[in-house]
Amino acid sequence: MYSFATITDAINLQCIKPGTRVLLRTSLNVPVAADGSIGDMFRLTRSLPTIKLLMEKKAKVIIVGYIGRQGDTLRPVHAALQTLLPDTKISFFDGKIGDARAVVDQLAEGECVMLENIRREKGEEDPVSADGAQLVADLAALADMFVDDAFAEAHRAYASNCGVTSKLPSYAGLLFTEEVEKLSEALTPTGKSLAIIGGAKFETKEPLLIKLLDTYEAVLLGGALADDVLRARGNPVGSSLISGEPIPVSIASNSTLVVPTDVVVVEEGVSAERECTVNDVRATEHIVDIGAATSRAWAEKISQAAFVLWNGPMGVYEQGFEDGTDALVEAISRSTCHAVIGGGDTAAAIAKFPLDPSRVFISTGGGAMLQFLADGTLPAIDALSKK
Ligand code: 3PG
Repeated sequence: MYSFATITDAINLQCIKPGTRVLLRTSLNVPVAADGSIGDMFRLTRSLPTIKLLMEKKAKVIIVGYIGRQGDTLRPVHAALQTLLPDTKISFFDGKIGDARAVVDQLAEGECVMLENIRREKGEEDPVSADGAQLVADLAALADMFVDDAFAEAHRAYASNCGVTSKLPSYAGLLFTEEVEKLSEALTPTGKSLAIIGGAKFETKEPLLIKLLDTYEAVLLGGALADDVLRARGNPVGSSLISGEPIPVSIASNSTLVVPTDVVVVEEGVSAERECTVNDVRATEHIVDIGAATSRAWAEKISQAAFVLWNGPMGVYEQGFEDGTDALVEAISRSTCHAVIGGGDTAAAIAKFPLDPSRVFISTGGGAMLQFLADGTLPAIDALSKK
């Protein structure tokens, strides 16, 4: 399915020896609260196996990543990673990348240095610009090889993931490889297959929906995406969140696409919520979750499925409308299906129920997962594969 070399290949070929300098691209893009605490450790904990493997091999590791879009500091993430790896010395470097070589040279075997938010560097987001080419050269000069473990950013063609592959022997990390393997299974599901897609922004998910409607036996639509289809099918959606563009008739009329039969609604300025059928939403109300009957019906579908792909919450999860999403996670927890799940608030619901990792894979990717499922590849996969 993919043709890139992995860190396991590098180890088998004895390319990683004590003292080998490894530039490691990791997803460090995690929510940080005002007090510096990390809101969700999932990406950091998933980055550990590759770091630990490199430490076992006594490599010198230069950890590179970014956080946010406003030039925030990675210092709280560095502190959190150090807590997760108490036996590994991880220093922090916030000087010019071109000056980092001296720090790397001073690392002992089996030590790491984390570079400050690489998105602060001119050229990171545009590796073919002059600044980008300089950044690629500066990063490549720090190391003997490159390992990309940042699947969550693999849809970004940046200097620190795609650019450096032209300068260094490059390998996919353990998490990156596992993400590609597991998400590849979701491209061609076998047996009775169910896709569940929630969240908002129909226009950004349209290519994915077109693909899923071709490959899955049923596509269940929740969140604000469902409001668009309900409206297109003639149901009243009141003041619900809807996309600017009308959705194509070919999608709206596709019988593989399943929308809720009942919903939870709230009225502006009224604290109480109510449940009603999708024919009964009042003009002053907006939809905030799938209803209980829909949750039961979709849980039943999950119990009969062999494979479930899920991205995006069923309701306005961050405002507390969690029941629909939670009901479906619970159904997956109780079922025997294989499942691939990803995407912000879906991941928050996942923590509430025990999910057997041998049959349920939780992706660290948000946008990367959606783009991979729509296109079957990503810029960082292509960059690694050219090596
Ligand atoms: C994500 O959180 O989806 C990735 O880390 C990508 O973040 P970005 O959209 O800021 O590049």
